[in-house]
Amino acid sequence: MKILITGAKGQVGTDLVLEAKKRNHQVFGFTSTDLDITNKAIVDREVSTIKPDVVINAAAYTAVDKAETEKEKAYAVNETGVKHLAETCKALDIPLLHISTDYVFDGNKKEPYTETDIPNPTSVYGASKLAGEIALQKTWKKYIILRVSWVFGEHGNNFVKTMLRLAKGRDEISVVNDQFGAPTSAKSIAECLLNIADKTNFGKQDFPWGLYHYQSDPGVTWYEFAKEIFSQAKGSGFLDKEMIVHPIGSDQFPTPVKRPLNSKLEGGKINQNLSVPLSEWRSTYLIECLKND
Ligand SMILES: NC(=O)c1ccc[n+]([C@@H]2O[C@H](COP(=O)([O-])OP(=O)(O)OC[C@H]3O[C@@H](n4cnc5c(N)ncnc54)[C@H](OP(=O)(O)O)[C@@H]3O)[C@@H](O)[C@H]2O)c1
Repeated sequence: MKILITGAKGQVGTDLVLEAKKRNHQVFGFTSTDLDITNKAIVDREVSTIKPDVVINAAAYTAVDKAETEKEKAYAVNETGVKHLAETCKALDIPLLHISTDYVFDGNKKEPYTETDIPNPTSVYGASKLAGEIALQKTWKKYIILRVSWVFGEHGNNFVKTMLRLAKGRDEISVVNDQFGAPTSAKSIAECLLNIADKTNFGKQDFPWGLYHYQSDPGVTWYEFAKEIFSQAKGSGFLDKEMIVHPIGSDQFPTPVKRPLNSKLEGGKINQNLSVPLSEWRSTYLIECLKND
């Protein structure tokens, strides 16, 4: 299968390219320099030249705090860029797989969010990502939107890398213990998207296109996630000391954008409609990420 991937140097994009190559697909991975999705002419040119069987959009403006002061830039990539891809894919009848986020929700619900819950973003980033979802849904019917959260992986910056870096200079750390979510590895997201792309009935009218939540189990707080990272790092010899982790409240770790208290997404629909099981982040994905740090 010919697969065009945007945002190919990002956290998820890198794993998508690697995983797609491993599966012997013909992969066209574009960085932001090679294919800027805010430029419609370039999107048209590259997609129509390659004529892929599927386009996967891993490109996004992801600087959550900075987006508050760079609203135009965030919307240009997260809304207009997605619209460009959707228009081009529609013109060429190519399915578009797109990644979105739990930040479309305010995080005030107690239970995991389902696909039918009403979004209520509380940040520019979240609002721009929601605008991208809507632009795609209005433009082209052959789409998958995969909402994910708490992404970590071997490539790029993420919470696991931050914890390991901080551990180099100290023995104790305080981590927020009132935000609940599920660490989800970039590799598992790549596998999930490629499993969807692999479906043989792709392109058929009755394919269950639409919006899906994808997340790993089990749900934890950032504090619990940090404890697991240090425990596995120590247990497998990547860390030579015991890190002491102190639980704190979000009010003791203020950020320009208030993070959602609940980021847990319900994954029943994707399993039922597309036979995609949820992954388990602790057993394989975390240790792989530590190994390759
Ligand atoms: N990271 C998380 O915790 C998280 C959580 C929930 C959802 N998500 C979603 O998951 C997806 C992947 O995120 P990620 O963590 O892989 O993000 P990432 O590491 O920041 O990667 C995003 C990529 O998009 C590229 N990009 C930015 N503007 C572009 C443009 N105009 N045209 C083409 N490419 C552009 C960036 O390139 P440059 O670096 O060159 O700008 C970067 O390589 C995104 O849709 C994000 O919203 C992420």
